[in-house]
Amino acid sequence: MSEPTSARTARAQPDSGTPDPGTPAAADDLAARAAALDAADPLAAVRDRFVLDDAVYLDGNSLGALSAGVLPRLADVVTREWGELRIRSWDESGWWTAPERIGDRIAPLVGAAPGQIVVGDSTSVNVFKALVAAVRMAPADRTEILVDAATFPTDGYIAASAARLTGHTVRAVPAAGIAEAAGERTAVALVNHVDYRTGRLHDLPAVTAALHAAGALAVWDLCHSAGALPVGLDAAGVDLAVGCTYKYLNGGPGAPAYLYVRRELQPRFDSPLPGWNSHADPFGMAPDYAPADGAPRGRVGTPEILSLLALDAALDVWDGVAVADVRAKSLALTDFFLDCVAALLPPGRAESVTPAAHQERGSQVSLRCAGAGEVMRELTARGIVGDYRRPDVLRFGFTPLYTRYADALRAVRVLADVLGAGASGADPAGLGDGASALPRAQAAAPVDVPSSSVRREAVPQESVPQEAVPRESESLDASEGTA
Ligand SMILES: Cc1ncc(COP(=O)(O)O)c(C=O)c1O
Repeated sequence: MSEPTSARTARAQPDSGTPDPGTPAAADDLAARAAALDAADPLAAVRDRFVLDDAVYLDGNSLGALSAGVLPRLADVVTREWGELRIRSWDESGWWTAPERIGDRIAPLVGAAPGQIVVGDSTSVNVFKALVAAVRMAPADRTEILVDAATFPTDGYIAASAARLTGHTVRAVPAAGIAEAAGERTAVALVNHVDYRTGRLHDLPAVTAALHAAGALAVWDLCHSAGALPVGLDAAGVDLAVGCTYKYLNGGPGAPAYLYVRRELQPRFDSPLPGWNSHADPFGMAPDYAPADGAPRGRVGTPEILSLLALDAALDVWDGVAVADVRAKSLALTDFFLDCVAALLPPGRAESVTPAAHQERGSQVSLRCAGAGEVMRELTARGIVGDYRRPDVLRFGFTPLYTRYADALRAVRVLADVLGAGASGADPAGLGDGASALPRAQAAAPVDVPSSSVRREAVPQESVPQEAVPRESESLDASEGTA
């Protein structure tokens, strides 16, 4: 993938006298580049569609920012549609058909033709529907479910449960090895398009093609890619896909997720949760189940109307925005952020675990850094909001619709300050106690697929250690965000 023009043109060329890292000249050079990149940014005006403040918000890969149109839309939904029209709104306000109508608005963002996406339920629930339905589509002698070993934990938990229910086994393999691992016993593989911890982008077309060549189905988790980069579901022939809408789609906390079922597979989609909303005649109230045709077959129960319609309003920010432009800006932003890291951070204090190659990078940069929890709390207190994953990963998400190059520079400047730029001492930011008190036991307790029946294969050395699953009694640290 070629580098975005804006990044190429604004970056100082080696033979033009690039200043030495860490020098005031280097900082000036970066400030000039940020200003030039922001001035040339074709998406710059889209930021005005969001409610933002002085903070540098780099956590849109966990919870996207509020878009300005959501407030008046929700006020109308609550006061008029619900408050005045009440039950009439299921029909007159289009509530009943909202899951598929909003699915068709997400479709172009993930490269899908209309009629294949339904919005509703959480990602976890949709992973369950997709996996069990895929297993039911596969020949009976294919008894294995492959999962990406570094998967977001919920996918592993659900895969293990789906396997127990269907009498299948789960095998966890590194995402990069999924294509080779698929064999004649593989029914389906569940793969994350972008790794939530490292920001690594996996090759969706190639892995899907390899799975198909092995006779297996492909289920993709798009949580960390949809809205940040082109996905191309139809073009790659993906079988099923799921994703959340509260990250790069900015649908709001707990916004409903979506399920994609390729059109040709829809007649064979046998839902493990055949609720009345997915019935061919839901108001017939028949005792026996008969599935609806098309995308509504992926529904379960009553749609989450308030959060669905908040998402509907949030999707308005995409009017006139091309996903290709979003991708170009995402790569230019993350390139620039990495350049700032290289130039401004004290040597040895933080190391990127996000791939440098564009074709392997999502829209976040993750830095391995001792004392990550304390560092992120300090950053947040100073107006730089990212999050961290235990034990030692700082995550910075770049939402191209509202993040500026100047934000990337400011974030690294503050990080450099927190880490003690120029100081080579062990504890320049006074993080020693916290850093040394980091939960080492957790680092040594990798749990990414929680079933003793799950067979594990080696995870490559370069991948980041798995974070431990918080115990129920542990409270959520704000710097850990949601997901
Ligand atoms: C990759 C991935 N999959 C699944 C989930 C779980 O989503 P949900 O909470 O909607 O079930 C998340 C949450 O952030 C995620 O990042």
